[in-house]
Amino acid sequence: MPAGPATIRPEALDALRDLLGPGGYLDQPADIEPFLTDFRRLYHGATPLVALPASTGQVAELVRLCAQERIGIVPQGGNTSYCGGATPRESGGEVVLSLRRMNRIRALDPSNYSVTVEAGCVLATLQDAAEHSERLFPMSLGSEGSCTIGGLLSTNAGGTAVLRYGMMRELVLGLEVVLPDGRVLDQLRSLRKDNTGYDVKQLFIGAEGTLGVITAACLKLFPLPRGHATAFAALPSAQAAVDLLSRVRSALGDSVTTFELVPGAALDLVCRHIEGATDPFDARHPCYVLVEATGFAPDPELSSGLEAVLAEAAGAGLVRDAVLASSSRQREAFWKLRESIPEAQTREGASLKHDISVASQRLPDFIEEGAALLEHLVPGARLVAYGHLGDGNLHFNLSVPPGGDPQAFLARAGEVRRAVHDLVARYRGSFSAEHGIGRYKVGELARYEDPVALAVMRDIKRSLDPQGIMNPGKVLDAP
Ligand code: MLT
Ligand code: ZN
Repeated sequence: MPAGPATIRPEALDALRDLLGPGGYLDQPADIEPFLTDFRRLYHGATPLVALPASTGQVAELVRLCAQERIGIVPQGGNTSYCGGATPRESGGEVVLSLRRMNRIRALDPSNYSVTVEAGCVLATLQDAAEHSERLFPMSLGSEGSCTIGGLLSTNAGGTAVLRYGMMRELVLGLEVVLPDGRVLDQLRSLRKDNTGYDVKQLFIGAEGTLGVITAACLKLFPLPRGHATAFAALPSAQAAVDLLSRVRSALGDSVTTFELVPGAALDLVCRHIEGATDPFDARHPCYVLVEATGFAPDPELSSGLEAVLAEAAGAGLVRDAVLASSSRQREAFWKLRESIPEAQTREGASLKHDISVASQRLPDFIEEGAALLEHLVPGARLVAYGHLGDGNLHFNLSVPPGGDPQAFLARAGEVRRAVHDLVARYRGSFSAEHGIGRYKVGELARYEDPVALAVMRDIKRSLDPQGIMNPGKVLDAP
């Protein structure tokens, strides 16, 4: 498999500029700079050009030209990847492709509960447009003000409402994709039933731009909930959280949209570093959950349902204390306690991140075993295992020991990652539940993925992108 030239011929760059026209590219170092470093600052790449095409036709022409010249193409959405999936490599032989000019909502059909949107549209813009039409687009996550639909689809994003609505893949009805040879795959249909052979569009969701460029999507909308009930509850243990999840679901059914775990260590960090964040309780507890139910019953009914199940759980020793949000301000304050954890952990100092999932009922054992393992490996380091308990997905992160040397701590990253991911493998879990592979986890995929699945992935990559021009070096090590 040819890797592509290390540099781009000046004539090819000129041809790309001509094709894109004025306003269709960036080529000045200061303008390009923000596209070169990933969100976590793990990588710093190089490129002579950021392409900003204005239409699917232009994307197709650009891809054709790059295919002729064997120039690598690195699609980049809001640049919020946790795995360096949207950052060019250091050679300077790849162009970055941003669809930020392709950000239109092409059609919103409230009666069909669907919306057709271009890949460069920011998530929050789509959420607002849906709400304006009395509909819900349920994908919700911390970076919603900057992440784009193309990035969400390419990484099959998760977020905080997966329990009720599923990951991005489950929200898709149709896709438009430019293939690595410049052909346009037009599956931009809004059908809910379509059993016509292989579901080709699914290949591009979660492929992180390695199989083609998603240019537009037709997505599902949902009825806009009329009310919500939100609680922040203090619990004695992770096991209690798992038991509570099961009770809440059987009492409130599909109205449960969010069930997020906030361990005591995470609440400490948030209260220390985030302005305006306060602990809702007088005493400190081992862990907390943020629970939200949304629905169509009037607010008091939903709240009393949640209150009743929390009270029963308290009687069974699963809940130590709980507060139900009595205003939208209080609801926002509870959400802030959860959503500020990544920022608070960053402000605390060096940290090592893992994005794992195991079957929910096995999470308490996993946490216990993982905590002991990490304490043995890096004594004094603080485990901050928080996140989407309702999906069996935790961000199993470690913060530098208080007063510890950050560089010495970060130097242990590989060892710690191996220990955590080996444990995940023993639990038959996933080492990347929602953040994808990007560049950061290429070796992990090669190591832990089923060899047959890996061979199928490589076959697909070779068949669609024989020259290896689409997001080279991401997801798969060797095609
Ligand atoms: C979250 O759930 O907050 C995000 O996935 C970010 C993170 O991993 O910290
Ligand atoms: Zn997450």
